[in-house]
Amino acid sequence: MKKMELNKELLKKDAPIGVFDSGVGGLTVVREIIRQIPNEKIIYFGDTARVPYGSKSRDTVTRFSEQIVRFLRTFQVKTIVVACNTASAYALEALEQESDIPIIGVVRPGARTAAEVTRNGRIGVIATEATIGSQIYSEYIKKLKQNVTIYGKACPLLVPLVEEGLLEDPVTEEIARRYLSELIDIDIDTLILGCTHYPLVRSTLGRIMGPEVTLVNPAYETARELKELLAGLDLLNSQTPALGSNRYQFYVSDMAEKFLRFANSIIKYGILSARAINIEAY
Ligand code: DGL
Repeated sequence: MKKMELNKELLKKDAPIGVFDSGVGGLTVVREIIRQIPNEKIIYFGDTARVPYGSKSRDTVTRFSEQIVRFLRTFQVKTIVVACNTASAYALEALEQESDIPIIGVVRPGARTAAEVTRNGRIGVIATEATIGSQIYSEYIKKLKQNVTIYGKACPLLVPLVEEGLLEDPVTEEIARRYLSELIDIDIDTLILGCTHYPLVRSTLGRIMGPEVTLVNPAYETARELKELLAGLDLLNSQTPALGSNRYQFYVSDMAEKFLRFANSIIKYGILSARAINIEAY
């Protein structure tokens, strides 16, 4: 289906970028955006009241994503990053069709990197049940490269473990080992971390897979694609915004204090506040 035309009137260089995820996972994408395009202002929304998305239906994830986009647009954002693989798999197409500002997801950038780095053409993808079930990584990678085999494995328990902050923990390691054992046996050389929560347990995953397997974190490529997109539209912010409460703003649908502590442990930037809002009102 056809996308909507961009409304140039709405696209201002000094406007913020909207970023969202079901919870804390999208912070791995925010961290990368800050690293690559530090002049940009960011409004983040984590749907902490309704996490996880990965076990929900396409309709539900699409409805949640549409509400969040309406919320982010109250800040006149110039673009939106769907920093959630599940929402990218289920809702991105619908969001793009309804949007007159650019919206990008994390799946295509991750697929591109994996297609580039694999040497033996055997790529593993770990993600939520929804992302694996949608086969979206396989679809994108096969468009980019022939003779590849993609092995998907849903790892649903990793999201709640990460949300609980159990990043370096024997329980997380044991669960990850069980999920990954079948991927170890089939000689993949590349593993896509197809859920934005997973880079937070990257060292555990790397230890289990061993040094021969390249771990792909789609956050890096997503931030690069975002930078290129903004540069192409002449929308990169040319001035460094003053440090302060409105340069990076964080909103959640529940448990703002807990989120704030977590965010500060990931983004070493001194995040000042996180506010809870009623997302059902959007
Ligand atoms: N971080 C999300 C993803 O990238 C969603 C995890 C979840 O809510 O299940 O898929």
